[in-house]
Amino acid sequence: MLKITGGNKLYGDVDIPGAKNSVLPIMSACLMNDAEVLLRGVPHISDCDAMSKILGIMGCRVVHSGSDMLISTRNATLSSISPLLAGEMRSSVFMLGPMLMRFKQAKLARPGGCDIGRRPIDIHLAGLRDMNVVVREDEEYVYCDASNIKPAEIYLQFPSVGATENLMMVACSAVGRSVIRNCAKEPEIVDLAKFLNSLGASIKGAGGHTIVVEGKGKTFNRSIIYTPIADRIVAGTYALACAMTGGELNVKGVKSEFFSSVLSKISKNSCYIKYYNDRINIISHARPHALDYVVTAPYPGFPTDMQSQMIAYLAIADGDSVMVENMFETRYRQVPQLVLMGADIKVDGARAYVRGVDKLHGAKVVATDLRGGASLVLAGLVAEGDTYLDGTHFLDRGYDRIDQVLSSLGAQIFRL
Ligand code: EPZ
Repeated sequence: MLKITGGNKLYGDVDIPGAKNSVLPIMSACLMNDAEVLLRGVPHISDCDAMSKILGIMGCRVVHSGSDMLISTRNATLSSISPLLAGEMRSSVFMLGPMLMRFKQAKLARPGGCDIGRRPIDIHLAGLRDMNVVVREDEEYVYCDASNIKPAEIYLQFPSVGATENLMMVACSAVGRSVIRNCAKEPEIVDLAKFLNSLGASIKGAGGHTIVVEGKGKTFNRSIIYTPIADRIVAGTYALACAMTGGELNVKGVKSEFFSSVLSKISKNSCYIKYYNDRINIISHARPHALDYVVTAPYPGFPTDMQSQMIAYLAIADGDSVMVENMFETRYRQVPQLVLMGADIKVDGARAYVRGVDKLHGAKVVATDLRGGASLVLAGLVAEGDTYLDGTHFLDRGYDRIDQVLSSLGAQIFRL
């Protein structure tokens, strides 16, 4: 439970840790490497703990000390990933590629993750079948056999982030050239490709719509040190916190281009933003102005992972705004909680109609997913009175000690 007393402006510096959505596929990719990897800047979040558990089940040794994480896979052995483990997070699906590279076999319970939509894995499995991987499914598990894997030309039905990453990893185990088209272009995909290439892979085109992999078929064997990119969604969340509460923040360690679609929305109307190579200085000078439309889209469009937080920002804006969520079917589940705090929001399918109000008020609210939880924290920071937020385990999936970070910036927020 978090207790948040609204009304304080935020001032100071915030160092952004490694990106959850980069660290997780990179952790799974370590299974493709029969050696040690030292990752730097790894956040203490429960999704990383869950991935550590999965690697541990496979006989890997994972030591997370401070922001360093040492992963040794020398004694890795094939093990299926149970519904309990796989169900904890969507990223368990990233184990498919590495398991097929290392063991040529995989048995994975259907992945879990935030309840923001159906989240099928059909695009992942279609790409595996294109590469001649034998895929069998039942209610609970997916079974894959890559004994006769072949390179292939793959076209993704949708630029899925996870499918792009998984198939990029699988293609490393097929000897020859694979071409993956209609790829997602997120910075985390570029980061994973860079990590794999530093292990000895040959991947070109990551960050564009076509990725070419020259598969070598065998496990890598290099001990390296690697620093994943910083978390653009965490950075965007703190930038919005400043824009909503007022004050001035230096958001450090993250490339501003990775969340420019978010910054452009707030710099137009309520903040002065100065851009540096790997930090931004943000000064909030006015109440948020309404935005006619905010439409989520694959990168470099407005990120769906900032949609919930942006709704909290628009909830106190000086007019009417419309949010359009194109990526997931049910990503407005925190709206009723914001309405409990006095927000005026109506949801109709993919659209949320937000009428800005002068003030929100504190309330007892419950997070229902990771980014929905973040939006309730932002609302609590500006609400009159006390907000009690339950469901903080969702927040802890992707934000490293968010209460301590915000408290260090002047917010009145305590973990009860
Ligand atoms: C990744 O999820 C991120 N998670 C998500 O972040 C993020 O919201 C999402 O990409 C979109 O940017 C991680 O990287 C661990 P998708 P992923 O495959 O890979 C449909 C957060 O808050 N789809 O790009 O699961 C899917 O249902 C999380 O940090 C299929 O239909 O997202 C969705 O509608 C939430 N079939 C759309 O594609 C498939 O096989 C985009 O999903 C795969 C996806």
